Amino acid sequence: MIDTYGRKITYLRLSVTKQCNLNCAYCKPEEGTCRETGLLLSPEEMVMAVRAAARLGVTKLRITGGEPLLRKDILPLVRDFSAIEGIREISLTTNGTLLASHADQLAQAGISRINISLDTLNADKYKKITGGGNLADALAGLEAALTASFSQVKINAVLLKGFNDDEIFELASLTRKYPVDVRFIELMPLTGSKMLENAYLSADAVTEALGKIEEYRQEGVAKLYRMEKGLGYVGLIKPVSDNFCAQCNRIRLTADGRIRPCLFDDKEYDIRGLNEEEMFEMFREAIRNKPEQHPDLLGDFSCMRRNMNEIGG
Ligand code: GTP
Ligand code: 5AD
Repeated sequence: MIDTYGRKITYLRLSVTKQCNLNCAYCKPEEGTCRETGLLLSPEEMVMAVRAAARLGVTKLRITGGEPLLRKDILPLVRDFSAIEGIREISLTTNGTLLASHADQLAQAGISRINISLDTLNADKYKKITGGGNLADALAGLEAALTASFSQVKINAVLLKGFNDDEIFELASLTRKYPVDVRFIELMPLTGSKMLENAYLSADAVTEALGKIEEYRQEGVAKLYRMEKGLGYVGLIKPVSDNFCAQCNRIRLTADGRIRPCLFDDKEYDIRGLNEEEMFEMFREAIRNKPEQHPDLLGDFSCMRRNMNEIGG
């Protein structure tokens, strides 16, 4: 479906759980500020919702969380999504720590591409930014993803001044070691985390740190570059310094059944308890009302009702 501003909406990001086994500083609320957001959709409702979205022209489904691999029924859920007419590609975003034991089965169930969050290659820093996570688990997940039959594996690193800007070269060099894309993402100001006050850094820091680097092309939200001898690409995702709303082709569905037409707009459409026809109408209404763009992300978003772990990025 084409929205009011001429954008073709073909991409649904579905958060299948708010739970996460990590506690990343840029994603989850500070202690005590967790919002009450109600019951989750049942698996049947999720499948029905994806079917309704597919009837409106969604062809690409990305499964997010929380951490999607915490769901015990993730494999049957993926299989059900794969069987939906019109869905041509299913991808998944994960922190990778549970991926080692899931990768092959996910590929067989129908996941074609995996994006793994990895902000540092230093075990102590990893523990700090993730609130206790184990770097070795995430790296084991990455290795498993690379041997499973996914068509593409990407790494997402949120750029944090004073935390990982000294690792830009090392992280980018993963594209020489493995056939992966490494994408640096500008920090979006969502959690009001004290630890991250002043941590925003424009992604231009990446091209500055890497020196001579060949520009390749824009792919979705990322501008891609290639390092010399790179097997994959280095990507820059600049939601803050170079807003990409005009090209936005996506819509989101939260685990508790709210369609969210824009990541940074709290207007949501509740589909809990609806049948497929009613969900179809609700998606249509939500797409029709997708905002032209969100406000400047250097502003204060700490009053937003949701954190990333509930929306799925
Ligand atoms: P691909 O299918 O591989 O292109 O995935 P993706 O980049 O769409 O998904 P991923 O889950 O890896 O998200 C990468 C980063 O882009 C995350 O930090 C997301 O929060 C951010 N992002 C994705 N979509 C949007 C969007 O519509 N607006 C903004 N501001 N950020 C987004
Ligand atoms: N700013 C930028 N990226 C974020 N992510 C989560 N929270 C933020 C934020 N505040 C990223 C994660 C994950 C992706 C889905 O979103 O690193 O890779």
